[in-house]
Amino acid sequence: SKVWRYKFNVVMKNFTRLCASKPIVTIDGKFPGPTLYAREDDRVIVQLVNNVPYNITIHWHGIRQIRTGWFDGPAYITQCPIQTGESYTYKFNVTGQRGTLLWHAHITWLRATVHGAIVILPKHGVPYPFPKPDHERIIVLGEWWKSDVDDVMNQWMQTGMPPNVSDAHTINGYPGRVPNCSTSKGYTLHVEAGKTYLLRIINAALNEDLFFKIAKHQFTVVEVDASYVKPFKTDTVYIAPGQTTNVLLTADQRSGKYLMAISPFMDTIVAIDNQTATSTVSYKTAEPYMQTTLTTLPATNSTATTNSFAESLRSLNSAKYPALVPLEIDHSLLFVAGVGVNNCSTCVNGSRVVAGINNVTFVMPSTALLQAHYYNTNGVFTADFPGNPVTPYNYTSNNPLTNIQTTNGTKVYPLAYNSTVQVVMQGNAVIAPESHPIHLHGFNFFVVGKGIGDYDPVNDPKKFNLVDPVERNTLNVPTAGWTALRFRADNPGVWFLHCHLEVHTTWGLKMAFVVENGEGPNESIIPPPKDLPAC
Ligand code: C2O
Repeated sequence: SKVWRYKFNVVMKNFTRLCASKPIVTIDGKFPGPTLYAREDDRVIVQLVNNVPYNITIHWHGIRQIRTGWFDGPAYITQCPIQTGESYTYKFNVTGQRGTLLWHAHITWLRATVHGAIVILPKHGVPYPFPKPDHERIIVLGEWWKSDVDDVMNQWMQTGMPPNVSDAHTINGYPGRVPNCSTSKGYTLHVEAGKTYLLRIINAALNEDLFFKIAKHQFTVVEVDASYVKPFKTDTVYIAPGQTTNVLLTADQRSGKYLMAISPFMDTIVAIDNQTATSTVSYKTAEPYMQTTLTTLPATNSTATTNSFAESLRSLNSAKYPALVPLEIDHSLLFVAGVGVNNCSTCVNGSRVVAGINNVTFVMPSTALLQAHYYNTNGVFTADFPGNPVTPYNYTSNNPLTNIQTTNGTKVYPLAYNSTVQVVMQGNAVIAPESHPIHLHGFNFFVVGKGIGDYDPVNDPKKFNLVDPVERNTLNVPTAGWTALRFRADNPGVWFLHCHLEVHTTWGLKMAFVVENGEGPNESIIPPPKDLPAC
């Protein structure tokens, strides 16, 4: 197998968007950042050099990091930040994985501008399990903020109050046409009639689930989160932050220009944001005078679209790519997640809006959990994360003010090596029901069930799909509902689980699993690298 070497220079660079210029943190001056290519089972080495006045870390979102948690990237979970002028080299193997993922900064809100695609090609000579596309294109969806994202984050933290939403969405870095500002069309996907394109779509936005559409064209979905799915056709892709979706697009019109557009899915009144970003699909034969064919995106609150998209996802579950769903469960957990209220002496009203899981608001430690775990350092975390709600209540009722108080803690949930875990992620309706894109580091999981309302531990498991559930690393907890996931804890280390809406993570909707070493020779975490940043 091959070694792919990269150097990521973290540098400030001026960008002009929405009629104004501002310096942003970038890798190599690019927004979105450079694409990381590798091949299944290869080794990747990325030297990161920090030349900006901010601390940074990078997370390789969806890369399993088997036994190599030191290179996973979330600040204060698996490593301390790389300080200005310092460097750190991430080294990992892409074992048994192929498909599209993303990398992004994993500290404060730097992910807003520090992100890019990961493309893992199948092994040489191994075809895709779908018709070979003529071309492949990467589509990175993001957000643009006129103000400094750190200021926005601090505002959220101090006031606990929304909204300061982004000022635009972007497609491959561009918002598209902006009235009274820019007539630039932004990104153009050039296509040739009759050809098929594999679009590797990535949602790198901080806080927005998105709908993605191209006028007069259909997609065949073939993969999500670097796992193959049973192909299905759709005209709208629903994709949450942290998720990736590969689709086949056949250029089946003869000529012309077609709008490619994204718009937010918003299930609450909390943040009001209707910005659509646009770009163009242009056929080779399109005449310059041709008008762009427009398209209609789903309504901003269309849970019909989000639910039907999620229900269409099934793992391919072929002989070559079987779905190895754990059937016996050692740890059966119910995580009630959402916003809550926390007492706070310095706050205006003595309390503020936070988020949590099972009424615990996760407090970031000042030293990395993985180091504390590896060296048995006391006092950094406690291993008493509640696996079930302490006081069960009606989570999705219209009486949301029950049980909203959270307590602060740096609590982890311990797992024996190779034990099997089921987590039912139940959304609460405090303030308002919201969907949550929940991401687990270090694993893929199977999404075995979902439903609206409160999870019923007696009847709902009878309806679980244990045959071909979709396998992924970031799932959607439906608005006012629940989702059940299963995984095998076969990767020793400390693994973050959190909402990939950055607002919710910042507010405390996060926790970590600690997976103990196994007894076997290849069942323990490797020793820390020499250049691991000090805290
Ligand atoms: Cu893509 Cu912990 O994040």
